[in-house]
Amino acid sequence: MQRIHTVKELRSSLKAQKNIAFVPTMGNLHDGHIALISLAKQHGDCVVASIFVNPLQFGPNEDLANYPRTLEADCKKLTDAGADIVFIPNVQEMYPDFDGEHLNQTMTITPPPIAAELCGASRPGHFSGVATVVMKLFNLVMPQIAIFGKKDFQQVYVIKELVRQFNLPIRIIAGDTVRETSGLAMSSRNGYLTPAQKAEATQLYQCLVNIVHAVKQGNTRFTDLEQAASQTLSQQGWLVDYISVRAASTLKPATNQDNELIVLAAAKLGSTRLIDNIDFCAK
Ligand code: PAF
Repeated sequence: MQRIHTVKELRSSLKAQKNIAFVPTMGNLHDGHIALISLAKQHGDCVVASIFVNPLQFGPNEDLANYPRTLEADCKKLTDAGADIVFIPNVQEMYPDFDGEHLNQTMTITPPPIAAELCGASRPGHFSGVATVVMKLFNLVMPQIAIFGKKDFQQVYVIKELVRQFNLPIRIIAGDTVRETSGLAMSSRNGYLTPAQKAEATQLYQCLVNIVHAVKQGNTRFTDLEQAASQTLSQQGWLVDYISVRAASTLKPATNQDNELIVLAAAKLGSTRLIDNIDFCAK
């Protein structure tokens, strides 16, 4: 696998490629990421991954400085999984106008209003940072296919809108969430959890499973279900950000008329913020 650090080298290496499948990441790779690489190998002739901890998508009090950086282990996993190229730019390479604190002349993307709900409500600017870096990475890699994990469902939604509204000739594929045997969704942030918290963390998934069962049995009092789940988690020491049942295709609050639904949640256990979701059909 080729390691590339600069835009110039990336462009020259990819010039002759015709069917690129791209998996953008922030590193600290786990089996969920590796499943995305496997999916990329099924769809493309050249698999490109990127590792870049994007400062624009972190809020001032978030974990940018502590975000786990495990480059050598990540490169080994990518090589074993069969990636052809990994692009590992530094901040200066990606954002020449950003001084680490101020954007200065850096141009950014404003996502649609739905990006200010759910995760966007407690992480203002997050999806603008995601959309901006993904747009830049797309322009650099110029893939035919790009693959993202469904665990970040709202992110996938925003990226699909980016592609649709900016007419990018890229097919977005969403890979299924990979879970521990306990049900806990794999995430780089699980590494922050103590063993006791990791055992408790599966409750987030369990709450979602309970809501799915209730809706499938005909209970469409979504607000009641959300509130009950939120109360259960709060009693177990979680700080709940949101639990919300939405229409999967629009991310608007679910109505009785919607059949394809998604229940999404974000909550903090100690100082670790976890997210998860399950998409399902009501009938
Ligand atoms: O999902 C992630 O790891 C990041 O949000 C992404 C898509 C790589 C953009 O920085």
